[in-house]
Amino acid sequence: MKILLQNIDVPGIQNFEVYRRLGGYSAVEKALKTMVHSEVVKEVKDSGLRGRGGAGFPTGMKWFFIDHTTDKPKYMICNADEGEPGTFKDRYLMQHNPHLLVEGMILSSFAIESSTAYIYIRGELFSILHILEKAIGEAYANGFLGKNILGSGYSLDIYCHPGAGAYICGEETALIESLEGNRGNPRMKPPFPAVAGLYGCPTVVNNVETICNIPWIVNNSGAEFAKLGTDKSPGTKLISACGHIRYPGVYEIELGMPVNEFLYSNEYCGGIRDNHQLKAVIAGGSSVPVLPADLILRTPKGEPRLLSYESLSEGGFDSGTMLGSGGFIVMDETTCMVRQLLSYARFYYDESCGQCSPCREGTGWMEKILHRLENGRGRMKDIDLLASVAKNIEGNTICPLGDAAAWPVRSFIHHFRDEFEWHVNEPLACLNMHQVTV
Ligand SMILES: Cc1cc2nc3c(=O)[nH]c(=O)nc-3n(C[C@H](O)[C@H](O)[C@H](O)COP(=O)(O)O)c2cc1C
Repeated sequence: MKILLQNIDVPGIQNFEVYRRLGGYSAVEKALKTMVHSEVVKEVKDSGLRGRGGAGFPTGMKWFFIDHTTDKPKYMICNADEGEPGTFKDRYLMQHNPHLLVEGMILSSFAIESSTAYIYIRGELFSILHILEKAIGEAYANGFLGKNILGSGYSLDIYCHPGAGAYICGEETALIESLEGNRGNPRMKPPFPAVAGLYGCPTVVNNVETICNIPWIVNNSGAEFAKLGTDKSPGTKLISACGHIRYPGVYEIELGMPVNEFLYSNEYCGGIRDNHQLKAVIAGGSSVPVLPADLILRTPKGEPRLLSYESLSEGGFDSGTMLGSGGFIVMDETTCMVRQLLSYARFYYDESCGQCSPCREGTGWMEKILHRLENGRGRMKDIDLLASVAKNIEGNTICPLGDAAAWPVRSFIHHFRDEFEWHVNEPLACLNMHQVTV
């Protein structure tokens, strides 16, 4: 069952005519001609769609929280910043099917009664920015954007805004700051963006993939969407798979698919590269806890682990993880877990905005200790020191970047402590091992 990638390989799908010929913009026609905004919100609530940006918050509920009692304008923002190591699904959607996002943006904006919408796109995706701008121009030219769309009385303008290469600007309040022209520092919550977001007005921030589900939901109903996947994880999900597998790529799966099937079936990852053994998987982008082979394939209760929010989190921090943004990083037995972790620690150190001391200082300390361990100068007490620094960052920062930096550290030590000790006892013994670069 494909919702997002159904027409991705159709030649010319980037162009308005081809997209339209395949039924594109029919959901906009349906919503604007036969529905009121609250009915679109209701369909999305009924669908059970959960945000695909990482946190999995129910989309319909987020829209429902928008304050309609104020006269202030409402803003719809698409989060296309996609900077999480291991996650590369949004760019794939935007590059190959930009009109799907434009159609989803029109419907989402209509649902929250917004007449100005923004697509905040990662600055490095410059070529995709042009693809999106062309699609937006075509939508204007064909009467699907601008004033009085399809004679419905509803008007909408969409603007693309490229970021300047900061991972933190993917965090929704930092994104809003950046869009306002300020340094991308996250804001304290509450107030949440639904109450006071862009320019202090009610704002919804949704991920690209989340928004691309909306045309299907409007066309087919929320109830039909809810039949797909599992009770707590309805629908399909894009998984960007990379690392030591035979077929890296972006796949659309129905939520609830066994990890074993996704990993070993030739339709998806095709198994581990030649004759190697699975060692570990980071299932939801670099920010979520790593799981060793046995725990990614089976839950602590011995049941098959499924690609769903609830199954992946089974076992809590000690033996579970998260679906996150769907960046599936696979490591075989040649992977040096200390070096792998060092590359993530360096990333978070580099990307911390520096606003909160635990994150600003702690990410640097973690990088320094890991560098020492990886380069044969580590001490046994460094391992506990590293875990303690991570623990002191966790939960003590304004935004979840601190947690995102701490969880990998804590989970790598928890599951692969013997490898950290090996680095201390036999410095440089891991030199012929590998690392997955994402
Ligand atoms: C450091 C950090 C980076 C983030 N980067 C992204 C991103 O690139 N894209 C995204 O959609 N969400 C990102 N998020 C999550 C957003 O804050 C927000 O939850 C999301 O855009 C909401 O959309 P959704 O409800 O559709 O998932 C990030 C969060 C943090 C803490």
